[in-house]
Amino acid sequence: SSPPASSATAPSVADVNAPKQPFVIGVSGGTASGKTTVCDMIIQQLHDHRVVLVNQDSFYRGLTPEESERVHEYNFDHPDAFDTEQLLDCIKTLKSGQPYQVPIYDFKKHRRCSDSFRLVNASDVIILEGILVFHDQRVRSLMNMKIFVDTDADVRLARRIRRDTVERGRDLDSVLEQYAKFVKPAFDDFVLPSKKYADVIIPRGGDNHVAIDLIVQHIHTKLGQHDLCKIYPNVYVIQSTFQI
Ligand code: ADP
Ligand code: C5P
Repeated sequence: SSPPASSATAPSVADVNAPKQPFVIGVSGGTASGKTTVCDMIIQQLHDHRVVLVNQDSFYRGLTPEESERVHEYNFDHPDAFDTEQLLDCIKTLKSGQPYQVPIYDFKKHRRCSDSFRLVNASDVIILEGILVFHDQRVRSLMNMKIFVDTDADVRLARRIRRDTVERGRDLDSVLEQYAKFVKPAFDDFVLPSKKYADVIIPRGGDNHVAIDLIVQHIHTKLGQHDLCKIYPNVYVIQSTFQI
C-alpha cells in the first residue's frame, strides 16, 4: 500500500541519478556566541564526509582611505559592511560543485589580504558561518538548514573582550566603545530579528553537546538518503521535521 502523500516522497529515477547537491548549513548568532566553535564540532563529527567552512567575515568590504582614517566610526556590524554579492557568488559556485577562491580578511588591518586567497573545493557539506548570514533572503534561500547559536550577551561580551585584545590587536577601551556604539545596536536591529529564520536554536553554543549530536545525526540522515535511494530506488523516504 502507498504511504500517505503528506508524509512521504518517492524519489524518481531522475532524482536518484541526479548529481548530489551539497548540503548547505547556515550558522548565525551574535558576536562571540560560539558559531565557529559549533561549526568545528560539527565538522569533527562529520569526518566521513567532505565538509567546507565559509566565514562571512571573509567577505568584509575593504575600507576607503577616508574610512580607514576614521575606523572607530565604521560600523562593521551593519549588513552593508559585507560584499553580499560576492558571498552569493561563492555559495552558488560551491553548490554547483566548482571550487572558489575565498578572500582572506585581516582583522588587525581591517582589510583583505590582496594577494592571497583560500581555495575552497567542492564538498558534500558547505557550512556558512557569520553574524548576518540570515539577513539576505537570497543567501538564506541557498541553505538547507539554518542554525542560530544563542549565548547570553554578557558571556559574549566577556569572550569578545578577551579575543579582540589577544587576537585582533585591540585595546580594552576600543572594544567597549565599539560594542556600545555599533555591536550591540546592530545585534538588536539585524542579528536578533534574523533568529526567526532558524530551523534549530542552540542555547549555550559549544557547551550544548546534545544539540550538536542531534544536528550531526540529522545531517548524516540527509546525506545518507541520497546514497540509500541509489541502492534501493523503490524505497520511499520519509520526510521528517527537525526541532530541538
Ligand atoms: P564566534 O564564531 O561566534 O565569534 P567563537 O566560536 O570564535 O565565536 O568563540 C569566541 C571566543 O569564545 C573564542 O575565543 C572561543 O575560544 C571562546 N569560546 C567559544 N565557545 C566557548 C565555550 N563554550 N566555552 C568557553 N569559551 C568559548
Ligand atoms: O567572529 P565574529 O562573529 O565575532 O565576527 C564579527 C565581528 O567582527 C563583528 O561584530 C564586528 O564588529 C567585528 N569586526 C571588527 N573589525 C573588523 C571587522 C569585523 O571588529 N575589521
